[in-house]
Amino acid sequence: MPQETPVDSLTDDQAIAELARLANLIDAANRAYHQRDAPELSDAAYDALKRRNTAIEARFPHLKRADSPSEQVGAAPADGFGKIRHAVRMLSLANAFDDQDVVEFDARIRRYLGLDDEAALAYTAEPKIDGLSLSLRYENGQLVYAATRGDGETGEDVTANARTIGDIPARITGTPDVIEIRGEVYMTHQDFSALNAAGGRSFANPRNAAAGSLRQLDPEITRARPLRFFAYAWGVQSAPLGSTQWDSLERLKTMGFSVNPLTRRCLGPKALLEHYRHIEALRPTLGYDIDGVVYKLDDLDLQERLGFRATTPRWAIAHKFPAETAWTRLEAIDIQVGRTGALSPVARLAPVNVGGVLVSNATLHNEDYIAGRNSQGEPIRDGRDIRIGDWVQIYRAGDVIPKIADVDLARRPVDAKPFRFPDHCPDCGSAAVREPGDSTHRCTGGLICPAQAIEKLKHFVSRGAFDIEGLGARQIEMFFTDDLLPVREPVDIFTLAARDAANLAKLKNRDGFGDRSAAKLFEAIEARRRIPLSRFLFALGIRHLGEVAAGDLARHFGRWQDLASAADLAAPAAACQIAADAAELSERARAADEGRRPEVKKTRDALWQGLSPDARAAWEDLIGIEGVGAVLAASLVTTLTQPKERASIDRLVAELIEIVPPEARGDAGVLTGKTVVFTGTLTRMTRAEAKVRAEALGAKVAGSVSARTDFLIAGEGAGSKATKAAALGVTVIDEDAWLAMSRG
Ligand code: IVH
Repeated sequence: MPQETPVDSLTDDQAIAELARLANLIDAANRAYHQRDAPELSDAAYDALKRRNTAIEARFPHLKRADSPSEQVGAAPADGFGKIRHAVRMLSLANAFDDQDVVEFDARIRRYLGLDDEAALAYTAEPKIDGLSLSLRYENGQLVYAATRGDGETGEDVTANARTIGDIPARITGTPDVIEIRGEVYMTHQDFSALNAAGGRSFANPRNAAAGSLRQLDPEITRARPLRFFAYAWGVQSAPLGSTQWDSLERLKTMGFSVNPLTRRCLGPKALLEHYRHIEALRPTLGYDIDGVVYKLDDLDLQERLGFRATTPRWAIAHKFPAETAWTRLEAIDIQVGRTGALSPVARLAPVNVGGVLVSNATLHNEDYIAGRNSQGEPIRDGRDIRIGDWVQIYRAGDVIPKIADVDLARRPVDAKPFRFPDHCPDCGSAAVREPGDSTHRCTGGLICPAQAIEKLKHFVSRGAFDIEGLGARQIEMFFTDDLLPVREPVDIFTLAARDAANLAKLKNRDGFGDRSAAKLFEAIEARRRIPLSRFLFALGIRHLGEVAAGDLARHFGRWQDLASAADLAAPAAACQIAADAAELSERARAADEGRRPEVKKTRDALWQGLSPDARAAWEDLIGIEGVGAVLAASLVTTLTQPKERASIDRLVAELIEIVPPEARGDAGVLTGKTVVFTGTLTRMTRAEAKVRAEALGAKVAGSVSARTDFLIAGEGAGSKATKAAALGVTVIDEDAWLAMSRG
């Protein structure tokens, strides 16, 4: 290398030329390194280039290039990261745990696409990196932002930090004008050990270290942490990268990204499993953590036809490695009370390292699980029960809560006694009952049980619900027991600011709250007085009502008042359903004892006969919604019509400005806002694909015909639904008409 002019002696012109030269050299070195096969520089030489670049920029700040390799963009936000809404949602993956799940995955795809059994489908198989996902947006080849996954819809803006990662190019060439590259940020074992050895904070594992390092408010701290990045997917793109997954990955490599070198293209599940074994064998030698192998259907057109479930694509799956295990002593069993009153036993363990993570708690599920039985009463662990003082085997798979796999009877203390599950709530003392057919004990304290109330509130402010910034689990616990500004039910959150204004002991004088943070909290609360109906419903914490079903209900009813009135109408039917279920359960038990066939239909029919037509119609409409079964419907209706519960919801609603109806999905057209039902056999596409298409065009797809149905699409051999539709005056169309309609 020619002798370099010392930075102190450079003129402006020389500095411009030198910064350009360094930008090119560093960029070229990054590319060579990312492709893994031809590193052109030693680490020391690379670092020297970067140091020289930083030194020149320090002396000539006005000459710093827009694409400076030091990638210092502005200052980090003073308090936390900005939010970035992903143009295309960042999803997670469904899991496969054994070979059979993989065979099923392939079979499911074929079934959905209606493909015959012969032709093997091509997939890619690549390691599942145990890091955190990141989305990088490039416009005209320049990195414009980097966002973490967050809740999948909105992530954190970590652009300044991402720019400090060597594997992430600041500029790319030969790409679509707009493209989001997605992949995993991770840390190697070696870098992780060095970081922990260097003192300061010590992280439990490389993944936590990577996450902690990326989410630093000061990008200079991130820069000092050795983070890496593998690209494996994309979000928005103004033009496709290729027509297959494989070609697109090849394209990513030429753009300068690291693509995992163990990625292969495999034909059919057998080849996928062979590659899985290969990666599993190499796992200990890779030098970074992986927790499985990801399979993706290769053909991107087929991927598009398959589309997505609520949070996972149908065309990909993560085949997880078997869980890691370790033995330790069970020191105590604590009982936690959840928001629906469920009592959950938790194992307190002598801390033990399980596959690199220190574990001191594990779930014990319920009374039967501790006693060594499954929900059918059959023995698990060969019937061995779990006692305090036992040596137990812990296993953990990925992010899943650790569980107890086994117990060592040879090491059981002589005085260990079988665990007696409490029949009272440890929090409020109310009776804890276990209903027939349920494996869980539930506290009957309802609204008087503080544990349930706190958990309900924590759920209410959580991410998928009201998501109030500055009001997390810790603050809820504080407010719940606060005498001057108590928050005991959701409405109290919205009256907090007014009560604070009227109060002498103001929030700003409280633990952890200053002038600014109190004002910010009130602002965050204010912003949520307008809330989408689906979030509102999910936030109520109704048993069996998850985010996806909340979305289904919101799309079906549109307005909160309509849903509430439907629940009122359906209340007698829900009661009937519950009574019939209970009667059925005891009849089955009696019949089993007496050795005869159970008689269940009569009781059910007799109960049902007594219902008004309105109640029956409201109930049928509810359970006709795709994704809403009788169990959820009964739970929803009973909760919403329980007087105290409803009064509490009404108080909340009165404080809100608007419960926003969902926007119709997809393009406005013939199907927007329409409810369709499919019946019979479709010949040109499977039922599943037809449903996804209909929804993409804005339709609601229901499972049964009612007066609200707009179209019944009758395939071959349509039966009773078609008759019912005709009787109700619903438009019935055949498959050809449906195809014409769905093409717009
Ligand atoms: S693909 C739509 N490929 O695993 C599919 N994900 O459990 C997007 N992950 O959130 C993901 N390695 O953070 C994909 N080779 C890989 C991966 C991978 C790790 C992570 C990713 C994702 C999570 C799902």
